[in-house]
Amino acid sequence: MIKPLGVRIAGTGHALPKRVVPNSEFAARMDTSDAWIRERTGIGQRHIVTRSLGETTASLACDASRRALDDAGLTADDMDVIIVATITPEAILPSTSCFVQQALCSKPVPAFDLVAACSGFVYSLLNGAFMLQNSGYKNILVIGAEVMSGITDMEDRSTCILFGDGAGAAVLSATPDVSGPAILHYTMNAEGSGDALLHVPAGGSRLPTSNMTVNEKYHYVKMNGREVYKRAVKRNHDLVDRTLAESGVKPEDIALVIPHQSNLRIIESARERMGLPPERVYTNIDRVGNTSSASIPICLDECRRSGRVKAGDLVLLIAFGAGFTWASALIRL
Ligand code: ACO
Repeated sequence: MIKPLGVRIAGTGHALPKRVVPNSEFAARMDTSDAWIRERTGIGQRHIVTRSLGETTASLACDASRRALDDAGLTADDMDVIIVATITPEAILPSTSCFVQQALCSKPVPAFDLVAACSGFVYSLLNGAFMLQNSGYKNILVIGAEVMSGITDMEDRSTCILFGDGAGAAVLSATPDVSGPAILHYTMNAEGSGDALLHVPAGGSRLPTSNMTVNEKYHYVKMNGREVYKRAVKRNHDLVDRTLAESGVKPEDIALVIPHQSNLRIIESARERMGLPPERVYTNIDRVGNTSSASIPICLDECRRSGRVKAGDLVLLIAFGAGFTWASALIRL
């Protein structure tokens, strides 16, 4: 039996790069079409950073965090820990969280990055929540931030149409009891055996960056889309089944499901598994594409700000990503 975690989402924020790239930009220069992309993925456009404007993983993370802190009525110096989920860090070294600390805080604070691909925000949220239990910590800033365009081969039509850049952040605050806002149920999982189905081959210790790796484009995401698709559907079903079985919550009790925005058909399959109508599953993939670990916190912030969810609502977050990793959190706001 999973013990609920006494945690409240005190504030959320998100940030997207200024530049919007519609499907037509890809259709104009490669063998694809707006109709194919929409029909197979649900994506209509994505936001992509402009480096000359200073848009990077850390700048997006900071912008999202400032909005989340404002929303919570707190400052960065009220944060006891900063966690950044990312697979596209500001630099290999130091961590993106250290850039965020430098930009936002006037004093040192524990800060680290967490790598779990598209499940990264849910992993970070849960790890932040674990840290808040009985530790004396009061507030933790949890961020999902990605510049996926930096690891995407813009000449590979099977991947370049999928990804976008952005960041989302949440301020987590410890709550004294779990009868109000709380994380009621959660799961985290990883299985490395599918590593070659979705990966960036070069840039790590196995294959350090060299002229060869750059010439061969091994610094970009390589994906077997069809196989990843099948696994994503299966693991989303596992997440939904396990949450419902172990929490005792019925689908109709859940105000909104916020899934990772990988592909509208994958999201639809999870919705059908739960027997929920379309309005009970949030999507913004048409506007934002797949922003990996930024996807769920961007959605969460949009939902809170637009009134799609309110205090007391049950919200289910579900995510699946490279690794493979998959994770869920059933939250009472
Ligand atoms: N435009 C037109 N045709 C295309 C495009 C494109 N952009 N991309 C691929 N095709 C072609 C293929 O070449 C193939 O042609 P062929 O039949 O002549 O060989 C055909 O379309 C079908 O290809 P599939 O890969 O089977 O297409 P599918 O319907 O599976 O859609 C997609 C591809 C959208 C990538 C899908 O597989 C998918 O969404 N996979 C999962 C992605 C995902 O969830 N990733 C995990 C998260 S990412 C992370 O963790 C970082």
